[in-house]
Amino acid sequence: MTTAAPVATATTTAPTEPTVKEQAGKLVAQIAGYVGYRTVKIGLEHGIYEAIARHTDGIAPPELAAELKIDPFYTAVWCRSAFAAETLERADIADGDRYVLAPHMESLLLDPTSPAQLGAAFVIFEQPELFDRFTETLPSGERSWWDKTGPDFISAVSGTGRGFNVRLIPGGFNLVPGLAERLDAGADVLELACGAGIGLVRLAETYPRCRIVGVDGDAYSLELASAKLAAAGLEQRVQLVQSTLEDLALDTRFDLVSINISLHEARDVERVVENVRDHLRPDGHFVVSDFPFPSTPEGLRTPPGRFMSGIQFFEAQIDDQLLPTQFYIDLLERHGFRDVGSLDLTPTHALTYGRR
Ligand SMILES: C[S@@+](CC[C@H](N)C(=O)[O-])C[C@H]1O[C@@H](n2cnc3c(N)ncnc32)[C@H](O)[C@@H]1O
Repeated sequence: MTTAAPVATATTTAPTEPTVKEQAGKLVAQIAGYVGYRTVKIGLEHGIYEAIARHTDGIAPPELAAELKIDPFYTAVWCRSAFAAETLERADIADGDRYVLAPHMESLLLDPTSPAQLGAAFVIFEQPELFDRFTETLPSGERSWWDKTGPDFISAVSGTGRGFNVRLIPGGFNLVPGLAERLDAGADVLELACGAGIGLVRLAETYPRCRIVGVDGDAYSLELASAKLAAAGLEQRVQLVQSTLEDLALDTRFDLVSINISLHEARDVERVVENVRDHLRPDGHFVVSDFPFPSTPEGLRTPPGRFMSGIQFFEAQIDDQLLPTQFYIDLLERHGFRDVGSLDLTPTHALTYGRR
């Protein structure tokens, strides 16, 4: 007697409802993130990480408190929370509660010249222009602009921009085909939306043969840029122009036009890119360095996606939003750029480039 083989039946399992415990865990994770954020911020503000970094064999909270002239009990509480947030480790020695910085925290939190730096993010998210003003104007939706923001905000943005500039110049530019040779040989470079000038100084110092122009629409940011250039002795090689990107009309033509964390802010991005084309020499490069806003729901739920969702609270107030990299690729192609490409330098920093 033969028995028929059982017929496989496809079974579809309905998605199971998450439990209260699982959902509560998601909220607890938000609270934990907030606690970690505040802990890092306190540590940066009071020089606690810097002090710990000086003690590569570890330091106990009472010694740390004595060194910094801060309360020993509070210091122990802070150390525990900084350890919980994985920014400190316990020193691997027997004599009690001594802490060292966790691996790479020194460059991530304390070194403004590091391409991996993240310390400035702990300043920008605290600024009232971000969440506080958003909360106040949520009913009215009243928009703002750069000239309505305070000096601390401009300085915090410039601090955030510093990490982007450090990665871009020269590392990012080196990855754009044909660009590094041109810059090394000496070229005319235009930085759009140069803000407080960190990128301009870096460009001028990295490429001593280049002539550089910086354009921004905000007078106060340009004053800061001018002071930075003067302090670096670069005012002869870098010219500043106050103009909106939409109304750009310069006599010079350029070999490179670059823009860092700002193209998403354009009031009329099509016109800005047309202006870029008009200001480029044939074969000239256009490099857009920006946040790559996630293009999928899954991407939004990653830590970088959530980070960038935080930036959107400010962008909304100046009437724009961060954009996915694909938007820039399409934009450059639509405007006739050739050899268009893109690459991610970090999960929150992408380059899109093309040539006229
Ligand atoms: C996020 S900040 C970036 C500044 C600088 N690129 C950096 O990396 O630090 C944006 C800058 O773009 C300028 N900006 C925004 N929209 C502009 C426009 N339509 N025309 C001219 N400047 C503009 C602002 O004034 C501000 O200085």
